[in-house]
Amino acid sequence: MNIAVLASGNGSNLQAIIRALQAKKIRGTLRVVFSDKKDAFALERARKAKVPVVESMSPKDFPTREAFDLAVADLLLREEVKLVVLAGYMRILSPVFIRAFPNRIMNVHPALLPAFKGARALEDALKYGARVTGVTVHFVDEEVDHGPVILQAAVEIKSTDTVETLAARVHKVEHQLYPRAIDLFVRGRLTIRERSVRIS
Ligand code: GRF
Repeated sequence: MNIAVLASGNGSNLQAIIRALQAKKIRGTLRVVFSDKKDAFALERARKAKVPVVESMSPKDFPTREAFDLAVADLLLREEVKLVVLAGYMRILSPVFIRAFPNRIMNVHPALLPAFKGARALEDALKYGARVTGVTVHFVDEEVDHGPVILQAAVEIKSTDTVETLAARVHKVEHQLYPRAIDLFVRGRLTIRERSVRIS
């Protein structure tokens, strides 16, 4: 199964996915790595791993969000991508993109959804004084940080934590959980009913 990873930044999750593919812990093919930022470190990682299609486009070169998303969807459809993996992709996808890949887009979020949605989940959990936060891997639907949950894992928050120390522990868990969720999808082991995901 052809997989695409979309990333805007560092790409540590992309690296974990590449590692899992190389170790055959995911039985798919990483066909495309795409970024909306041409200097994203994720692109370097992809080139180094010899991913066949490594591309970036800037939203600034398109008249509307939809036009940009359609161009990205076109690229992925051309490459016969069957699973779109968001790994720190810092854009909200428009419905035209989501409808091009129904129940075939996954995201990883650094909190236990529905708690701490949004781009500042780690900061928000710390500020709130939560004792536990975690990681959620979920399918993407038309609402932000909302689609059916595939896997979740908890991470304890220590009283001495800063955003950096908490982020480091959360990332470690992401790097375990995301490849597992992708492999479950590739093996056809995930079925969505309403908003519950059954793992067979
Ligand atoms: C991760 O913390 C993920 O949960 C969030 O964006 C971050 C991406 O990190 N969606 P990286 O680029 O994979 O290192």
